[in-house]
Amino acid sequence: MTAEDTLVIRSEIRSNGVAVVRINRPEAKNALNTEVRHRLAEIFHALAGDARVRVIVLTGNEKYFVAGADIRELAEAGPTEMHLRHNERLWEAIGRCPKPVIAAVQGYALGGGCELAMHCDLIIASNKARFGQPEVKLGIMPGAGGTQRLVRAVGKFQALRMLMTGCLVNAQEALAMGLVSEMVEDSQTLSRALELAGEMALLPPLALEQIKEVALAGADLPLEAALMLERKAFQLLFDTKDKQEGVAAFFEKRQANYCGE
Ligand code: CAA
Repeated sequence: MTAEDTLVIRSEIRSNGVAVVRINRPEAKNALNTEVRHRLAEIFHALAGDARVRVIVLTGNEKYFVAGADIRELAEAGPTEMHLRHNERLWEAIGRCPKPVIAAVQGYALGGGCELAMHCDLIIASNKARFGQPEVKLGIMPGAGGTQRLVRAVGKFQALRMLMTGCLVNAQEALAMGLVSEMVEDSQTLSRALELAGEMALLPPLALEQIKEVALAGADLPLEAALMLERKAFQLLFDTKDKQEGVAAFFEKRQANYCGE
């Protein structure tokens, strides 16, 4: 066994600006234990600050994206201990990542795994993927945004069906309800996510960052405030080199080369 085999998270930065983050805890179906959570947060912090990285692809393995929080770590925990873990700070590293994050989901995305996918901006799902928030079957409830992000993603009636029955939905249902961006053949899941990431890595990073921030923040604001936020971000982009480059490339009928400034 090599040192690489024992890493719970593997990450690599490719020459096209795409970082691939892979969760690797096969013995527990990629369940999120303390080590995985801390490593994920560290890696997302590092990638957010790494100028080489334009887009992040987050994935698991062929059968499991993530089977949820590690139930063994929940078994004996009391409320004070759960509070003191401050897992919300670790989740924030992913949720507040300013760069585009694409989830490539094969197999199960359950509980904290479904919540992890929902922290991403796009979800590419295998046609064999299954999503669910089964926490209610353990006598608890989602605690990493499941009750909020799911309602916002798919609406009240599908969200509460999943949240209040703990049922699993297959990829076809997830696509129909708007929980995933695209569904592809199982074997194509990562390659499609990487293809999209490669395309997005050629787009202007500041524009992508502003689009993400305004779309997410605006969804929780009154429309007038959200429109004002959009207007300010839109105007800000007129001061970037990439706006000059994008417009020049259009008139010169060539591919734009964005520098991120
Ligand atoms: N935590 C810890 N261990 C887990 C796990 C989890 N979430 N999911 C699976 N495992 C472990 C099992 O205990 C088992 O370990 P052993 O071999 O030592 O017995 C091993 O992974 C294989 O699991 P199964 O035999 O159950 O595999 P399966 O292929 O038959 O079923 C599964 C796979 C459908 C994912 C099933 O394991 C399952 O339902 N897992 C639990 C899913 C769940 O309830 N997730 C929500 C957790 S709570 C949460 O997520 C809260 C939150 O975010 C705030």
